Amino acid sequence: MAVKRIGVVGSGIMGSGIAECAAAAGFEVVVRSRAEHTAEAMLAALAKSLDRRVERGKLDAAERDAILGRVRAVTDLGELGDCDLVIESVVEDLDVKRHLFTELDRVAPEHAILATNTSTLPVVELAMHTSRPERVCGIHFFNPAPAMALVEIVRPLTAAEATIEEATAFATACGKTPVVVEDRAGFIVNALLFPYLNAAVRLMEQGVATKEDIDSAMKAGCGFPMGPFELLDLVGLDTSVAILEALYAEQREPALAPAATLRRMVAAELLGRKSGQGFYDYRS
Ligand SMILES: NC(=O)c1ccc[n+]([C@@H]2O[C@H](COP(=O)([O-])OP(=O)(O)OC[C@H]3O[C@@H](n4cnc5c(N)ncnc54)[C@H](O)[C@@H]3O)[C@@H](O)[C@H]2O)c1
Repeated sequence: MAVKRIGVVGSGIMGSGIAECAAAAGFEVVVRSRAEHTAEAMLAALAKSLDRRVERGKLDAAERDAILGRVRAVTDLGELGDCDLVIESVVEDLDVKRHLFTELDRVAPEHAILATNTSTLPVVELAMHTSRPERVCGIHFFNPAPAMALVEIVRPLTAAEATIEEATAFATACGKTPVVVEDRAGFIVNALLFPYLNAAVRLMEQGVATKEDIDSAMKAGCGFPMGPFELLDLVGLDTSVAILEALYAEQREPALAPAATLRRMVAAELLGRKSGQGFYDYRS
């Protein structure tokens, strides 16, 4: 397989997780953050995540150091000029991503695949903001990326079969289970998951049960590892609202319009784990 050097754009929850997966699989990884301090925070988060794996006996210290040695943090997008595959994982906002794809098309080598980790946005729209729509696809990791096995490979109408095959081979090389899905809002998992998460918030709004009892019910009654409110906090409420908006924009189903509580919490910057507080408090 031709892919050796990976670029990751965005160093939030998912960007740092994807960088960890790729570096652990032996790829050289360049992560682009917008600022020095977020680049440093990403490297610190990566080191912490690897340390946890060493403590659990899943990784030895030499492997941890080797993985860290394969990740370089940069702030200049031009540093992605020698990457074979670039995965963008910035905020779930179509305008931001469109602009980024035009920039990536300018800096990445001609042969490089430009991929998005978007949860729901139309990949074809990003492809059409480049001069190489046949080399653009979705590579959608799940949260937390190092732990979750699934990767959805999203095929826009414009993608060449070789692009999908190389993206699939990359996910397999990362030890993941890839599935190929057409470019529809929510792909497979979020198309099924988010109507359920939104319905859980509505159930709470209607006073049917508390969030704690809804979480307990879905764990004890359905065998889910997390309840819907715990999962919304993990995903991030801003990202969750963006995902629901994209599902609603495509399907126009009233049930997919983000529950009012979600919107109000985002306005109050109660974003979940990443801001320290969401449906639950993570500050202590
Ligand atoms: N959180 C999840 O569970 C999850 C799972 C799979 C995919 N995703 C997708 O991954 C992407 C990133 O989500 P995340 O959860 O890591 O979010 P996050 O909030 O943790 O990180 C977002 C990143 O985008 C950067 N950013 C924000 N505004 C920007 C701008 N205007 N220009 C460039 N960069 C900007 C931030 O600095 C940060 O590095 C989104 O497309 C999201 O849909 C998220």
